[in-house]
Amino acid sequence: PAALFAPERVNSAGVELGDRAALARLVAEVAAAGAPAEAVPLVDGAPQAGTPRPVLSPADGRTRVGTVAEAGPETAEAAMRAAVAGAAAWGRVPAGERAAALERAADAMEASRGRLIHLLQAEAGKTLDDAVAELREAVDFCRYYAAEGRRLFGAPQALPGPTGESNRLSLRGRGAFVAISPWNFPLAIFVGQVAAALMAGNAVVAKPAEQTPLVAAEAVRLLHRAGVRPSALHLVPGDGTVGAHLVSHPAAAGVVFTGSTEVARLINRTLAAKDGPIVPLIAETGGINAMLVDATALPEQVADDVVTSAFRSAGQRCSALRLLLVQADVADRVIAMVAGAARELRLGDPADPAVHVGPVIDAEARARLDGHGARMRRDAKAHLVGEVPAQGHFVAPQIYEIPGPEALTEEVFGPILHVARYRAADLDRVLDRIDATGYGLTLGIHSRIDATVDRVVARLSTGNVYVNRNMIGAVVGVQPFGGHGLSGTGPKAGGPHYLPRFAVEQTVTVNT
Ligand code: NAD
Ligand code: ALA
Repeated sequence: PAALFAPERVNSAGVELGDRAALARLVAEVAAAGAPAEAVPLVDGAPQAGTPRPVLSPADGRTRVGTVAEAGPETAEAAMRAAVAGAAAWGRVPAGERAAALERAADAMEASRGRLIHLLQAEAGKTLDDAVAELREAVDFCRYYAAEGRRLFGAPQALPGPTGESNRLSLRGRGAFVAISPWNFPLAIFVGQVAAALMAGNAVVAKPAEQTPLVAAEAVRLLHRAGVRPSALHLVPGDGTVGAHLVSHPAAAGVVFTGSTEVARLINRTLAAKDGPIVPLIAETGGINAMLVDATALPEQVADDVVTSAFRSAGQRCSALRLLLVQADVADRVIAMVAGAARELRLGDPADPAVHVGPVIDAEARARLDGHGARMRRDAKAHLVGEVPAQGHFVAPQIYEIPGPEALTEEVFGPILHVARYRAADLDRVLDRIDATGYGLTLGIHSRIDATVDRVVARLSTGNVYVNRNMIGAVVGVQPFGGHGLSGTGPKAGGPHYLPRFAVEQTVTVNT
């Protein structure tokens, strides 16, 4: 229903990269914004000491993008203490002012697009169109949660009740919220978590992924400058150890986490084992995402959508396609077209606007993917195995045919697509297998038969289903994003049910 959605908001215009003049302006801005970057722990806005470490570009594994000072347990402790004090003050700031600060931050991010896009490309290996889309998503999260926040937190909601009684419902922040984010959307997910928690009236201790602290630090600078009080937003760069410390802290009033299912489970266990209040976890994790293609699908469109879904962002999206299931009658043709389209992808330096596939995030990711590719070449039929540059953490798009969905048992986080054939008569069995993975993040369907689409949608409760299109790039407020089961707890980011999970609710009943 329309009433679920914040009305007074439009998504960011982004940049039209097909407009040559606009592209040239953007490339010049990015090139001019390449000074070395620094990320240090910030507690109440004050820089803290940390263990210095260079941040190197994944494109060549050598170029120094900047330096991070990683926080130790004492700094994490100080940040949590400061957040408890900061939450009380920030929670009293009227919701409209909190929203206005987020809106100013969104404007500032758009104005700083050269610097943010430079960092996304240099630190995270994002191609230009991915970096543009990610900046746009970060901006949209700020504006969306601001608009939603005005609606939900602005004034108590009057509720109907019997004569002689008034009832009202209000929401407020929980306290010190811990926000832990991944490297694959180091700006959009970092900012989305922080903006939501702040809008709900919490103070935030934010821990970015160890691979991508620099763009997170830049976002924090912009949020502070936009009016988020330093006592309400603290930055704690570091690895999983410092994340674990924050989660286990007695003062953590809530945790928002995006990353692997394995770490979400660890956090869940830690929170469950704590004494004191029951602490909520909002977790968004991975998926073994499938796309079904039946004999009525349009092969050219399928090829285009599969290549986008499986290989864009070097397959490093939680939403990315991992398992293509093609009806046997058309499988040879579809697989050949997909492989042909994927062969056209240009792999290389993400700073080059003509590049489609950049590097994977680090040497560890490359080694993991290379190992999986080698196993697939031994055990499965290879339809595509590409070449990679000698330098840098590159993995070429690959396509392997496996016997069926059951042969893929883990999320392979990179540009490796698995294909299996199914017979039309076996569709229900295939759907059962997809369900049996336990994940439920994204699903693609290519079919011109409405009854087939309805049957698949009715059988699977996957969080985001895309029909006759690609299956990545959910738009804030338009395609609220997230899954369930092994894919997370919900609620969906960029959707109407997200903010209330960061808040406590209070009903006041007055006998009049
Ligand atoms: P990861 O789980 O290794 O790390 C994520 C974050 O958790 C990092 O900041 C890391 O330092 C921190 N961390 C690690 N161990 C921790 C611990 N014991 N306690 C607290 N924090 C800890 O994931 P990643 O490799 O950074 O990201 C890739 C994963 O994220 C993939 O599985 C992908 O599917 C998932 N992802 C999901 C979504 C979504 O919206 N569903 C979006 C992006 C990425
Ligand atoms: N929200 C991101 C997408 O939809 C992960 O691709």
